[in-house]
Amino acid sequence: MASVAEHYDQTLAEIYSWMHGGFNAGIQKNIAFFKPELFAPKSSGIALDLGAGCGFQSIPLAKLGYSIIAIDLNSKLLAELQKQAGNLPIQLVQDDLLNFSQTVNDNLELVVCMTDTLLHLETKEQVALLFSKVFSALEPGGQFVMSFRDLSKTLEGTDRFLPIRSEKNCILSCFLEYELETVKVYDIIYRYQNANWKLYKSFYHKLRVSQDWMVEQLTQSGFKKLNPTTEAGFVTITASK
Ligand SMILES: C[S@@+](CC[C@H](N)C(=O)[O-])C[C@H]1O[C@@H](n2cnc3c(N)ncnc32)[C@H](O)[C@@H]1O
Repeated sequence: MASVAEHYDQTLAEIYSWMHGGFNAGIQKNIAFFKPELFAPKSSGIALDLGAGCGFQSIPLAKLGYSIIAIDLNSKLLAELQKQAGNLPIQLVQDDLLNFSQTVNDNLELVVCMTDTLLHLETKEQVALLFSKVFSALEPGGQFVMSFRDLSKTLEGTDRFLPIRSEKNCILSCFLEYELETVKVYDIIYRYQNANWKLYKSFYHKLRVSQDWMVEQLTQSGFKKLNPTTEAGFVTITASK
């Protein structure tokens, strides 16, 4: 089995933007989410992007005026972020997001951890620990935004096969195998290369965490004004210090 770091390095990083409909589609989706009337720097202006990937959140937030610290394990995705960011104020850090307090001061106005990044941690205890570290690092009134798929309910049979994206030369689908605390996520990629279809396959684990569990842990860490929304099984929570 590949670790999360290996899975991204060997399989996902290369097609990450593509699987989200292309780089511009990923950016536009987040421009629509981070509305200027809700997200505009008011105090320190420093935003931390945990598991920043290729910058789908960092770039829109930098365009809104935040100074970004973008942390990710994957060098390929960070290189893509750097290329796309131009002169925007985005500091890249290649590290485990659990180590973020080694890089930042306790004056963050905004922390984001989006699109399942929380589920890539190894245990629920690490998620709870991260929440209390984020709470400490935020300014009073600071905000924490997260989004993740609620994998707590078990899909059965063929419902576990998920089409992700298909185009003329590349087809990506996922298969989910449910365990007690985690789901094994198999990425199955067919690429048309040198007049042949070539199969790439690999799997990694994601945590099974419900919306209710996340809300409970955030509350225990001290967060207030929790605002969870769910759309097609995908949960977004905004929480305030
Ligand atoms: C599903 S992607 C989300 C990327 C971006 N936030 C987005 O919405 O497109 C998860 C990202 O988290 C990174 N990641 C996973 N575990 C990590 C960890 N422990 N520390 C730092 N980055 C991690 C992966 O390399 C990947 O870029």
